[in-house]
Amino acid sequence: MANKKMNNYVSEEKEIKNNNETKEKNNIILSIKNASYRYSDAEENDYALRNVNFDFESGKIYAIKGRSGTGKTTLLSLISGLERCTEGEIIFDGKSLKDINLDKYRNSDIGIVFQSYNLLPFMTASENIILSMDANGLKVKNKKEKAIELMEKVGLKEIYADRKVLRLSGGEQQRVAIARSLSYNPKMIIADEPTGNLDKQTETEILDIFKKLAHEENKCVIIVTHSQNVCDTVDVIYDLKKVKKESDK
Ligand SMILES: Nc1ncnc2c1ncn2[C@@H]1O[C@H](COP(=O)(O)OP(=O)(O)OP(=O)(O)O)[C@@H](O)[C@H]1O
Ligand SMILES: [Mg+2]
Repeated sequence: MANKKMNNYVSEEKEIKNNNETKEKNNIILSIKNASYRYSDAEENDYALRNVNFDFESGKIYAIKGRSGTGKTTLLSLISGLERCTEGEIIFDGKSLKDINLDKYRNSDIGIVFQSYNLLPFMTASENIILSMDANGLKVKNKKEKAIELMEKVGLKEIYADRKVLRLSGGEQQRVAIARSLSYNPKMIIADEPTGNLDKQTETEILDIFKKLAHEENKCVIIVTHSQNVCDTVDVIYDLKKVKKESDK
């Protein structure tokens, strides 16, 4: 039986740099409200996440850190609407994810970037971006031109547009993946270990792109990470702790 009084989830919020003044949170785009999640094949008390309360604002860049198994990827699945909270809820732009069309949400409001880039290696950089525009039903007159524009935004020159992904470095592939996530101009960008496969210098360059998207284009950027470099860069760090089971008491 679940012990309802058990407070077995702790999260820490640490505002760093530029955010020392106690400002009203008036720009919240997404709120996680007392969210818990248990995988369907898990035992009754075996929660991957428990009572998480995080707010995310437009124009800021966030890190979600925590040791392996603390539920970071699970949390991104909830935020991206791939899984539904077992308890609690997630509010995006004032509406519960329970009440909105999740396909539309994923295809227009949030961009997702993965550690392994998830590009099609035998297609060119621009074809990968155009594929995403097509999959999301984006109506753009000149898709190639738009793809090149997005690539330039993430620091890739036009000559890369016709190069097969296979022939791009890891850092270049991640730039293409970020350009792809921007193709429908989402309000939020969520990234799971986006710099996990990159060296520190390249990581810093990729972080600069995310920072610009937050600070200059008012996007909300959420990065799951183990990297200290990422934590040193972001505006807010949320720290997930391991959910304690009753047997751990
Ligand atoms: N599909 C699944 N079915 C059942 N349990 C799962 C599933 N995916 C993850 N879990 C469990 O949920 C917990 C949280 O996993 P999650 O992948 O979210 O952790 P994480 O913080 O992203 O870890 P890492 O840093 O290693 O990527 C773990 O105990 C894991 O075993
Ligand atoms: Mg993970």
